[in-house]
Amino acid sequence: MTSKVANSSGSDNEDAKLSPSGLPVREVPGGYGVPFLSPLRDRLDYYYFQGAEEYFRSRIARNGGATVLRVNMPPGPFITADSRVVAFLDARSFSVLLDDAKVDKTDTLDGTFMPSLALFGGYRPLAFLDAADPRHAALKRVMISLAAARMHHVAPVFRIAFGAVFDAADAGLGDGPVQFNKLNEHHMFDFTCSALFGGTPPSKAMGDGAVTKAIKWLGVQLHPLASKIIKPWLLEDLLLHTFRLPPLLVRRDYADLTAYFAEAAAGFLNDADKAQSGISRDELLHNLVFTAIFNAYGGFKIFLPHVIKWLARAGPALHARLASEVRAAVPNGSDITVSAVDKMPLVKSVVWEALRMNPPVEFQYGRARQDLVVESHDAAYQVRKGEMLFGYQPLATRDERVFKQAGEFVPDRFVGGEGRLLGNVIWSNGPENSEPAEENKQCPGKDMVVAVGRLMVAELFRRYDTFTADVKEMPLEPVVTFTSLTSAKAE
Ligand code: HEM
Repeated sequence: MTSKVANSSGSDNEDAKLSPSGLPVREVPGGYGVPFLSPLRDRLDYYYFQGAEEYFRSRIARNGGATVLRVNMPPGPFITADSRVVAFLDARSFSVLLDDAKVDKTDTLDGTFMPSLALFGGYRPLAFLDAADPRHAALKRVMISLAAARMHHVAPVFRIAFGAVFDAADAGLGDGPVQFNKLNEHHMFDFTCSALFGGTPPSKAMGDGAVTKAIKWLGVQLHPLASKIIKPWLLEDLLLHTFRLPPLLVRRDYADLTAYFAEAAAGFLNDADKAQSGISRDELLHNLVFTAIFNAYGGFKIFLPHVIKWLARAGPALHARLASEVRAAVPNGSDITVSAVDKMPLVKSVVWEALRMNPPVEFQYGRARQDLVVESHDAAYQVRKGEMLFGYQPLATRDERVFKQAGEFVPDRFVGGEGRLLGNVIWSNGPENSEPAEENKQCPGKDMVVAVGRLMVAELFRRYDTFTADVKEMPLEPVVTFTSLTSAKAE
């Protein structure tokens, strides 16, 4: 892949390697420091002293602006034996992580550690399988067909969830500010399960504890990546980042969740049996639990507060434009549908822009399948087979070399001329203008996610003229608290 040519500077240095596009190939700068101690110190920087973004920006600055760097990624000891990664922190180098010919994604979903399979009924869920694994294609086919078959349920089921969230918000505002996240967390679990499988929503079938069970199960998998939940921070670091919490803690919860999905998804499981998907009913069931709770619900829990956050910050002028677009497209009294929101250019642009500014899954990992030369905008770097590659997506999607005013939320960015830019919106682990497939790792819920974002914006500005909210940025999702919701004036 690399060619050796004479050093053009004419010095007596040995021949310099050039990358395919003619950039000089260098060793990756940065470093890992002292084993054991440096990963611990870096973890504290990452979670508490600097935060993720500053952690990377400060290391870019320390290495003369290089955006491909060797860094430690938390959690580190004792959860991870090896914290070392090569980080890609610009749009160009990041794209390597989307190339399934170059990266092996086996067990890399959560980064440098792999949760116990006891949390998943003993199976390795689809999202932990590499694209080249034959089981990946079989499972992905099923998930793609599930998402496509359920698309027409999304708008009506979302309308119910949206109504429940905003009826509660309207009622609560009489007594003071109302937090969106809690309401979203509660009603989007029902939405996710009903949209994907129909049947009785979990809050009815399992009672109010359904959401708690789901979140506990997510917590036992993801606690090494969580922060700023428990004070004091040093205690939190010890409890969440040093040892794995045992799956036993959520065995009952997971059994209850699995029993719910066995019932709710029975029709889908029967069809898959008949179609001879090549996956046993039990393995498919555990995959459905993972897809519904981790992939889908976990995603909506983060994504929708970001959309509301950007709308709140943009203020009444944007709200008025969105309201007039929505109200002109959907006559009063008719339902807002997925095809109706597809004809709302500003609504669509706002949702893509929110996904660009805050891709809900910020981290991507994969191991180099072979020795690679990876190009950033200005240089090329030698990466070795087997090295753990990592990308922090917000730095890739806010890359000034790709997007103008890249660090700002520009509501109209994707109105007209969207095609070229959409290739750089990659929240779904692939470009927005390409499709999830059996042989790639792109999210099969991609169209459903974008539809839900659009439906939320459209429902919001049909119901309200404007709103205000306070926003507190937190490591996982922003906490958004409504301070006013101004109902649409009767026309
Ligand atoms: C806002 C919501 C969602 C977000 C942010 C999201 C994001 C993602 C991302 C980033 C990946 C790739 C993970 C990686 O390998 O690094 C992924 C994979 C996946 N997502 Fe989504 N997703 C969402 C909703 C959904 C929905 C509704 C479904 C339901 C069908 C779904 C099913 C999956 C599955 C099965 C995978 C694994 C695909 C594979 O390994 O080939 N996701 N998702």
